Amino acid sequence: MAKDDSVLNQTMQAIEEKAVDTSKKVRVGLIGTGWIAEAHTKQYLKFPDAEIVAMADPIPGKAEKFCLRNGIDPASVHIYPDHASMLAHEQLDAVSVCTYNATHAQCTIDALNAGVNVLLEKPFTVTLDEAVAVMKAEKASGKILSIGFQPRMDPNMQQIKKIVESGELGEIYYIQTGGGRRRGIPCSTFIEKKTAGIGALGDIGCYSLDMVLNAIGYPKPLTVSGYTSNFFGTNPLYISKDQDHTAEENAARFDVDDFAAAFIRLEGGVILDFRISWAMHLDTPGDTVILGKKGALRIPSTECWNGTVGGEMTLYTDMAGLQTETKIPILPAPRPLFEMKIRSFLDAVKEGGKAPVPSSQILYNQAIIDGIMKSAELGREIEINIPEI
Ligand SMILES: NC(=O)c1ccc[n+]([C@@H]2O[C@H](COP(=O)([O-])OP(=O)(O)OC[C@H]3O[C@@H](n4cnc5c(N)ncnc54)[C@H](O)[C@@H]3O)[C@@H](O)[C@H]2O)c1
Repeated sequence: MAKDDSVLNQTMQAIEEKAVDTSKKVRVGLIGTGWIAEAHTKQYLKFPDAEIVAMADPIPGKAEKFCLRNGIDPASVHIYPDHASMLAHEQLDAVSVCTYNATHAQCTIDALNAGVNVLLEKPFTVTLDEAVAVMKAEKASGKILSIGFQPRMDPNMQQIKKIVESGELGEIYYIQTGGGRRRGIPCSTFIEKKTAGIGALGDIGCYSLDMVLNAIGYPKPLTVSGYTSNFFGTNPLYISKDQDHTAEENAARFDVDDFAAAFIRLEGGVILDFRISWAMHLDTPGDTVILGKKGALRIPSTECWNGTVGGEMTLYTDMAGLQTETKIPILPAPRPLFEMKIRSFLDAVKEGGKAPVPSSQILYNQAIIDGIMKSAELGREIEINIPEI
């Protein structure tokens, strides 16, 4: 089993209890100034103990426009055309790696090698080999690497883990997870291998896998039989236009998955049945269900699957000979999930603590994604081999 997320729980408790110490400011650099970098920036700007001092993006003028959109004076930060020159010239405590998936590994390795702590957006990487290379750099650097799974901060996600850990379900033997959209291909930089590497599988599949794998303590994946398709992304009838492309252009450049399914065997005899979709002729491929020898949990899917619980969960157990159903209400988050994601990372950096969402867990998530892609290409089940780090 991979390490548990007690670090995250402690960090979240600390967020609630402690006033922010502003005697030292965390010097932050942004790698990539696209859409998700804005979500990071809004949070960094909220915290008096963090300052964005530099940013890098290879698209000329993009970082300057990003500053103006986010209320930052472009003259007050150093702007670079690539992450390597930013790392070479700046004394940074932390970076947010907010690039498209294909450059996650290189940017993170370079930052860690430069002695900088990293908050890396999801998915971890494109391939398992990349994830292993990143973790070797992490180990050699002694720096913090946290992966940007903000659903981990969601009290409903934490409740799923608490229910499993309470023993109410007994020994878990089968999990069905995943979700999807009838139509919801994000376009932009998400649909080409050269930028995204993987499609729905990496974009939303990683959340779905994390929801259940984290709940059961991240057992090691052993084998996978995977399937991927792209019938919708490649058809201009089903893919939309975006800011820079017509629907026809997007269909022509689409070369990732828009649907994936897999049957995965996990250490300890647990079966994981998974499907994820950006587009299909169905509202949802089903709710998430966790079957145990004493009880079961149903977690409703959402219309737009992105790592959230779709409604009140149901716990099925037998009580004194009666089959019972207990409704688990939706719990409100104490703070916006992104706020907790950035705050917990800053606290780990300031206190030299552990990563709120450690790579040692997400490695297994990435190994499954990598295994699905390889198995789909070969058309057969494969073993998942994870190198020592
Ligand atoms: N956590 C979430 O809720 C969430 C939501 C959306 C996207 N994401 C993730 O965030 C990442 C970025 O998504 P986005 O929508 O912002 O993409 P985007 O294409 O809008 O932005 C990515 C930016 O990175 C820049 N870039 C690429 N390589 C770079 C490099 N080597 N150095 C500096 N900049 C570089 C690009 O030029 C681009 O401006 C993706 O991996 C995506 O999966 C996470």
